[in-house]
Amino acid sequence: MDTCATPRAITQDRDHVWHHITNHNAFNSSDPLMIVKGKGMRVWDINGKEYLDGVSGAVWTVNVGYGRTEIADAVREQLVTLNYFAQSAGNLPAAQFAERLLEKMPGLGRVYYSNSGSEANEKAFKLVRQLAAKKNGGKKHKILYRERDYHGTTVACLSATGQHERRHQYGPFVPGFVEVPHCCEYRSQWGEVEDYGVRAANEIERVILEEGADTVGALCLEPITAGGGVIEPPAGYWPRVQEICKQYDILLHIDEVVCGVGRTGEWFGYQHYGIKPDIVTMAKGLASGYAAISCTVTTQELFDQIHEDDGDGKMDYFRDISTFGGCTAGPAAALANLDIIEREGLLENTKRMGEYLRVRLLALKDKYQLIGDVRGKGLFAGFELVSNRDTKEPADESVAIQIAGHCMNNGVIIGRTNRSFKALNNTICLSPALIATQSDIDTIITALDNALFDITQ
Ligand SMILES: Cc1ncc(COP(=O)(O)O)c(C=O)c1O
Repeated sequence: MDTCATPRAITQDRDHVWHHITNHNAFNSSDPLMIVKGKGMRVWDINGKEYLDGVSGAVWTVNVGYGRTEIADAVREQLVTLNYFAQSAGNLPAAQFAERLLEKMPGLGRVYYSNSGSEANEKAFKLVRQLAAKKNGGKKHKILYRERDYHGTTVACLSATGQHERRHQYGPFVPGFVEVPHCCEYRSQWGEVEDYGVRAANEIERVILEEGADTVGALCLEPITAGGGVIEPPAGYWPRVQEICKQYDILLHIDEVVCGVGRTGEWFGYQHYGIKPDIVTMAKGLASGYAAISCTVTTQELFDQIHEDDGDGKMDYFRDISTFGGCTAGPAAALANLDIIEREGLLENTKRMGEYLRVRLLALKDKYQLIGDVRGKGLFAGFELVSNRDTKEPADESVAIQIAGHCMNNGVIIGRTNRSFKALNNTICLSPALIATQSDIDTIITALDNALFDITQ
């Protein structure tokens, strides 16, 4: 590394770059973290310190790991052939990737490209609104979202976020978004009950009836809530959700931005539960961060409805464009990413290593009273920190910050809920790349064990 460039880069960063979701006052007393290299499961900071990345680029993204020359080569070759043309025209990688993707998503028929998870969700919201306008004068326009879920950072997506502290100071919000209660059994609204999953789903029906079923167009849910605390809906939830959507003619939009493309051991999180969504959105692991890409995938039926003759021919298509949805690097990277997952058997590895991670986390729970609940699926895990196991009193966010800081100092990057709620910022999150080995997981667990030991002394 060029040692002269190092302090200069830190100065350049400190003086000119605005970091995401970061309070820059911290940089008055310490240098900003700068990550400059990655290989496999590991990254290096600007001072040469090595870290094992337990959260795939901090936000569950680099699913196939760092330094994949195969993806870089595919992107380079595509860029020098054709880097860009607006997606109002077709291009080769977009066509090829759409076919490959849909092979993995039976029941779905169309792929709309854009370049972030938020944008993919915005497209879905617009489709729901346009369908409502076409079918019944805009009446069935409301979109339901769930408490604790997150769907992105734009004002419309924040209007659909169930993480209330993230909305603070960014209103007023877009009308027509309505919240349904969370489905975290550990935080059951009814105490211990046998049928928690069905009850939680029935709450969705209650909200639909309160709002008027003829005003509700879609229900938008994460298959497993990610940043809201890694919450897998319990047994009974999904079949009832599907039934409710069918009964009230409500589109089911599943946000796979985190779970999509292998994270949970299936191609998509919803595929664990046998449900049939009308819209699926995805980003993050779709190209593992090698290029910006997101997809809004719909049924052919929804596509056809948008194209139905509306009389004057003005709104019989989706009047939406995303400039960078026409960047060919995205689908080129996504194709190479898919090849790697298939060739290296990463879904199987995710299932196997996910189970190992779960067993090791449960052992930590046995050892430390501070851990109240262990959750997740595949290489997507979280555990809640509690100050009292009996009352389930959530630990203060400072405890999660301390644990993450301790692991970081010891060369392991882990995640945590980040000021999303008033009280429940107490989940430690893990999402190592799908290539993780037993020894990588051991390293993560050892770092957590050491942190928990020191913090509970
Ligand atoms: C479930 C979910 N949906 C959507 C988004 C938004 O994605 P992006 O940051 O790419 O806009 C995120 C981001 O963390 C997410 O976790």
